[in-house]
Amino acid sequence: MKKFLIVAGTVLVFLVLSCTTQTPKNAISLDSGWKFKTGDDPSWATSALDDSKWDTICPRKNWEEQGYKGYDGFAWYRFHTVIPSSLKEQAFIKDSLQILLGKIDDCDQVFLNGELIGENGRTVYTKKEPSVDFFKEQGRWYIDRRYVLAANDPRIHWDKENILAIRSFDQGGAGGMFGKPFEISMADLKDHLKFDFTTSAFIFTGDSVITKQITIQNLSGTEEFKGKLTIEAVLSDNGISIYSETTGIDITPKLKLDKPVTFKKQRSAPAILRVTFQESTSGKTITEMVAIPYLLTPKVSLKPRINGAQVFGVRPWSPFQFKVAATGKPPLKYSATDLPQGLVMDPADGLITGSLKKKGDFIVKLKVENDLGVAERDLKIVVGDVISLTPPLGWNSWNCWGLSVSDQKIRQSADAMKSSGLIDHGWTYINIDDGWEDTHDREGNIIPNSKFPNMKGLCNYVHSLGLKIGIYSSPGPKTCGGYEGSYTFEAKDAQNYASWGIDYLKYDWCSYWNLAPKATLEQMKNPYREMKHAIRKANRDIHYSLCQYGMGDVWSWGAEVDANSWRTTGDIEDTWESLSTIGFNQGKCSPYSAPGRWNDPDMLVVGLVGWGPALHNTRLTADEQYTHITLWSLLAAPMLIGCDLSQLDAFTLNLLSNDEVLEVNQDPLGKQAYQMRKGDDYEIWARDLADGSKAIGLFNKTDQPLNIPVDLKGLNITGKPVMRDLWSQTDHGRVSGHFEMRTQPHGARLVKLSK
Ligand code: GAL
Repeated sequence: MKKFLIVAGTVLVFLVLSCTTQTPKNAISLDSGWKFKTGDDPSWATSALDDSKWDTICPRKNWEEQGYKGYDGFAWYRFHTVIPSSLKEQAFIKDSLQILLGKIDDCDQVFLNGELIGENGRTVYTKKEPSVDFFKEQGRWYIDRRYVLAANDPRIHWDKENILAIRSFDQGGAGGMFGKPFEISMADLKDHLKFDFTTSAFIFTGDSVITKQITIQNLSGTEEFKGKLTIEAVLSDNGISIYSETTGIDITPKLKLDKPVTFKKQRSAPAILRVTFQESTSGKTITEMVAIPYLLTPKVSLKPRINGAQVFGVRPWSPFQFKVAATGKPPLKYSATDLPQGLVMDPADGLITGSLKKKGDFIVKLKVENDLGVAERDLKIVVGDVISLTPPLGWNSWNCWGLSVSDQKIRQSADAMKSSGLIDHGWTYINIDDGWEDTHDREGNIIPNSKFPNMKGLCNYVHSLGLKIGIYSSPGPKTCGGYEGSYTFEAKDAQNYASWGIDYLKYDWCSYWNLAPKATLEQMKNPYREMKHAIRKANRDIHYSLCQYGMGDVWSWGAEVDANSWRTTGDIEDTWESLSTIGFNQGKCSPYSAPGRWNDPDMLVVGLVGWGPALHNTRLTADEQYTHITLWSLLAAPMLIGCDLSQLDAFTLNLLSNDEVLEVNQDPLGKQAYQMRKGDDYEIWARDLADGSKAIGLFNKTDQPLNIPVDLKGLNITGKPVMRDLWSQTDHGRVSGHFEMRTQPHGARLVKLSK
């Protein structure tokens, strides 16, 4: 299911990967020397098979990039190697051999000398263990493949030739082995002992008390480690220790221990949590660290403030729904003057509904009051042909729930969007991704599966909260998750969506590859054009979101098929590598973005994510998450939160509730930022805003804090503009010539420069 990245810079990254890398001396490199064949035959697992005529392949790149474009289904990889007993003799810990196979898209069964040793990331420890159901594990492409065997396992042939055979299955998109590392080695202390920081979020109590759970895990079934465990919290800016504890610890085989730590830290100070284990007999030490999140968004004022979009597009006759987003001490009273005829506003929650018959522009004066004051702002309503005049802000089920999405999880997310207050900052959509479909009935109606017993009821419920609802399908017969697609049912599907009250459609290429394996540009456009007509006939404003991973430079023709947004890349993951590769390569799409036509670098990977049902706390550091939201705001990108909203932690909520940052994303001019400076060390992106000011993003790509210099001349700014830091919402006075800002590792600063 993982897609190859198509944005130019990214392709480059993949193409320059050579097929050999350095492997430590005490390991056998599996980086090159693989044999490959498409198809499926159980005899391909056996040692006796002659694979000399098979193709050769590099394990670090998916097979699509190596001559098998569009191939989905089964394929086998084979590797021959002698495993010398010197490997074992020289090792510190001699009990386990590990086979590291990067990642495999989507499913794998791994055989050593004809015997099954692993499946979809799980080691099959004994010969007799039954195999799990291979296909139930669809979509496990993001898991690191590490198979561990006891050194005396008879499946290993020490000092003889061994044959490693991998049966892999890809259900769509990119397929096969990719990532790193690829090696056979003895598992060392660092391989056995893991400190997992993703099993909980950092919990903030009050303003300064932080609790965090660290999970200590011994992956070995036989080794016991005794030693000293030190946990420290250190301020990033000056290295001052703000917390330290050292204890003796006995880490027994297979131990999984949740260790909570609580300490005090000022809410906006960046810091590091460091865990060190020193093994007593060998003196070997392993250290792992994680950045402690720091909160930059100031507390929401009790006085009323109007947030969210300042311009809203609607087509004549379409049902109108716009929720005025506002914060302040409740109760808030909403009112509007100059509301065009056909619309009404609910004074208790600011929901504007109705419909407008004629094209035209209207300026509505919004007012929100409480006993502490009044906020006023204009809303421009544009009745015309183009909708989504600002990028959609909302939530999508995929990055947390994957295919395990259900009616209950959607309701729960909608409830949380409201109760967390995110709705008051302009977050609007609740989108169902893949996994809701069953089949088409005799009349051609798409029937949701049993996890969605009443789709219309669900849509009504989401609307009743003042939110909008989205859905997912594919132009192919099957979706990427193997569910029913829209092929040949486009018109009927669009009618069904409209009758339920759907406001957003994500339309994902997936199995359309089978219909157009070597798609020309026209063939790429056709299925999207077809659905465009179907949506237009359905007479409901449905945000049309293309998902085909950027093929054929979709940004240059998405508007032609009436798309409101188009994915410019493959799937994002919650890693810096994925985030930075995608985010910093969006420059070339910039000129094509406009109100109602947005480049979509994929959904947010903040909070509790996991592609379901199991979730983990995002692997991005706090700074990387500041980069994520800063960059996506500058890019005028749709922002769809991808985490479990019902378990929002204080940091994630703070990150997603900064109205001045969100205002950049929602700026009515709708101009995407351009890359003012590209570099391996730092980048500067600048976005022109509707009020004549500029938003400037400074991004530190290095692992050290950096003072990033900004030259105003390079930004075409003369005079002495006023500078405001948008994350902290503080004024920095006037600047001239140039200025510098300290930026955390992988972190960002966002400022606004106004005349
Ligand atoms: C992928 C898509 C993901 C998700 C998934 C569902 O192709 O890029 O965002 O929608 O399919 O199966």
